[in-house]
This record gives sequence, structure tokens and C-alpha cells, in this order.
Amino acid sequence: MKTILITGGAGFIGSHVVGLFVTNYPQYNIINLDKLTYAGNLENLTDIEKKENYTFVKGDITDASFINQLFSDYSFDGVIHLAAESHVDRSITNPLEFVMTNVIGTVNLLNAAKHAWSGNFEGKRFYHVSTDEVYGALGETGFFTEDTKYDPHSPYSASKASSDHFVRAYHDTYGLPIVITNCSNNYGSHHFPEKLIPLCIHNIQNNKPLPIYGDGKYTRDWLYVVDHARAIDTVFHRGKNGDIYNVGGFNEWQNIDLVKLLCSIMDKKLGREEGTCAKLITFVKDRPGHDLRYAIDANKINRELGWSPSVTFEQGLEKTVDWYLANEAWLKNVTSGAYNKYYEHQYGQGHTQ
Ligand code: NAD
Ligand code: TYD
Repeated sequence: MKTILITGGAGFIGSHVVGLFVTNYPQYNIINLDKLTYAGNLENLTDIEKKENYTFVKGDITDASFINQLFSDYSFDGVIHLAAESHVDRSITNPLEFVMTNVIGTVNLLNAAKHAWSGNFEGKRFYHVSTDEVYGALGETGFFTEDTKYDPHSPYSASKASSDHFVRAYHDTYGLPIVITNCSNNYGSHHFPEKLIPLCIHNIQNNKPLPIYGDGKYTRDWLYVVDHARAIDTVFHRGKNGDIYNVGGFNEWQNIDLVKLLCSIMDKKLGREEGTCAKLITFVKDRPGHDLRYAIDANKINRELGWSPSVTFEQGLEKTVDWYLANEAWLKNVTSGAYNKYYEHQYGQGHTQ
């Protein structure tokens, strides 16, 4: 029986990772540590919360003594670290919170693992989940590879880049067994409706404007969250110690084209006339420091570990829309209270349901 710590397991990606590990590995004890910020939601885990090999612990990775105690209460064999502040727009408003959680929180976990494993690293692994945003922005051509120089532009990506450097440094300096993955934009169920796709789904349902930053020509490489969880499973078990793997969907979309595709899927699902939802598209003020284009070269993980995405974008997007339409109560819960304040601050208008 192995004991694995997953941090941020109540969030969007973390809940899919916890679900996959608890279900597929009954021989693992999965401890999910999450602070339950606005982005963490135990409703994301109802399918597995009663399983014997699953335990939830509420706690904050910025609290070093709490983290050290947790590592002495449990003998962790591995850590999969996803807890983070994850939204670029929030990082522009409050950078320090991103430094605290993403940098200090990560260093607390590294220290605790180093101390608990005290040089005996046999069978141990510290897996840091990171983003392609650390590489900065691409022009109209080219891809991010594992050798692309870090060049972060937002407080979010700067904090993630910093945490990646610490994880690499603990490997190089102390021999801590680590792996890092840098993944492109995820989409799917449990995604908080401050990010482009769930925000547009929620606004379409409520006939609200769909805010497109700038000219809408910004490009992202989208990956279905279940495929990211599969990649994490693959790299956790078979990735090479000390290695970095880029994860992506080979699936680039300009924001405006993506939102138009989403609108046409939702016209059909909601029985609206073709073109109805697209009328909600509204161009708004651009995000400061907005990265033009992200595109991942995911050949290494494919070649060395055999991972590739399992669904096309159209299939994944349709599954995602179906989930949101079937889970209106989930959306209602997460968009009550503090969400309205955030929305008003970000988009300068009231938001009623
Ligand atoms: P999320 O914001 O949905 O979830 C983050 C989780 O971390 C939440 O459950 C939150 O409660 C928890 N958390 C935040 N601060 C904490 C703290 N101080 N202590 C303990 N728990 C805390 O984020 P996500 O989109 O699921 O991203 C998960 C990880 O994957 C992040 O590290 C992010 O940088 C990375 N990532 C995300 C994407 C993406 O497209 N969403 C892409 C690549 C990488
Ligand atoms: P987002 O989902 O915030 O992810 P990230 O910034 O990590 O890539 O944004 C995806 C793209 O959509 C990005 O180019 C910004 C853009 N965007 C909008 O045009 N309008 C919005 O309201 C939001 C939230 C994002």
C-alpha cells in the first residue's frame, strides 16, 4: 500500500486526478490536501468521497508547520502537487497571493518532502504540475519544447516559473526525485466559470454578453482535462526522474473561433436558432500583458511514454457543455456570493442569474 499526497484535489484539474487515482489504484491511499479557496469545491469529489482509500484534509500549503506535521502524520511515498492560485486576471489584481501559494507553498512542500524522506529517496517522487505559460508568448509560428527558455509575463506565470525553478533546484541540489509537467490550457467539467470556456457557457445560459478580450485573435492550445489527468498518471508512474514533459493537445484555437464553435454547439443543445448565441459576443478591453499565442510541442511525452489525447476538441467540448447543462446546481452554487463581486470588478457590470 502506497500513500500519495495530492494537493489542490478539490479544484478543477485536481478533482479529475484524485478521481482517477482513487478509482484506478485501490492499492494507493490518496490524501487530498486542499484549502478550499473559492476554486476548491468538495462537490467535485462526490463520486469517490466514500471510497476507503480516500481521505480529505483541509489545510493551507503556505502554513509550514501544518505541512511538516502532515508529513509526519502520514508516510507519503509520493506527492502530486496541483494546489495553486490559477487565474491570470486575479494575479494581475493580487500578485502577492500568487507568490504566497504558488512559490512559498511549493517550497514548504519541497522542504517537508526533503525532511521526511531524509536522503532515502528510493521509491519516492515529487511531481509538480505546471503550465506552458512559464515559456511566455509565441509569435504566429513555432512551439514550446522542454528546452524553451522561461519568459513569463503575468504574475501568475511568473509565480509558476519560480515554483518550477525551486523544484528543479531541489533535484539538482539535494537529489530530490522530481518530475514536472508543463501543460497547455485545460477545459472540461468542474472548471470554475472565471475561465474563458465555462464563463461563456454560463453567460450563454443566462443570455449575458460573452466578453472577448482585445481582437479575440489570441491563441491557446486546448486539452481535455481527463487527458491531462491521464498524462499525470503516465508521468507519475513512468516519467524519468528529474525530467520535464510538455503536455498539450496539438489543438490551437483563436479565442474568437473557439467561442463561435461553443456558440454553435450551444445553439443546438439549447434548441436556439443557429447564430443566436453568437449574438452575445462582445469585444471588451484587453488583458494587460496578454500573451499572443501558446502552442505545446508534446512529442516527447508521446514518443517516450506513449501518451496522446483521447478525444478531439469537438468531442471534448460537447461533453463539457453536456456536463454544465446537467449540473446547473453546481454552477449556481459556485456563482453565488463572492463570484458576483469578482465579476463586477473584472467586467465592470452587475451580474444577475
Ligand atoms: P484551480 O484554481 O481550479 O484549483 C486550485 C486548487 O488549489 C483549489 O482546489 C484550491 O482550493 C487549492 N488551493 C489554492 N490555494 C491553496 C493553498 N494555499 N493551500 C491548499 N490548497 C490551495 O486550478 P486548476 O486549474 O485545477 O490548476 C491546478 C494546477 O494545474 C495548478 O498548479 C495550475 O497552475 C496547473 N495548470 C492549470 C492549467 C489550466 O488550464 N487550468 C493548465 C496547466 C497547468
Ligand atoms: P483563460 O481561460 O483565463 O486562460 P489563460 O489566461 O490561462 O490562457 O483565458 C483563455 C484566453 O481567453 C486568454 O487569451 C484570455 C481570453 N479571455 C477572454 O477573451 N475573455 C475572458 O473573459 C476571459 C476570462 C479570457
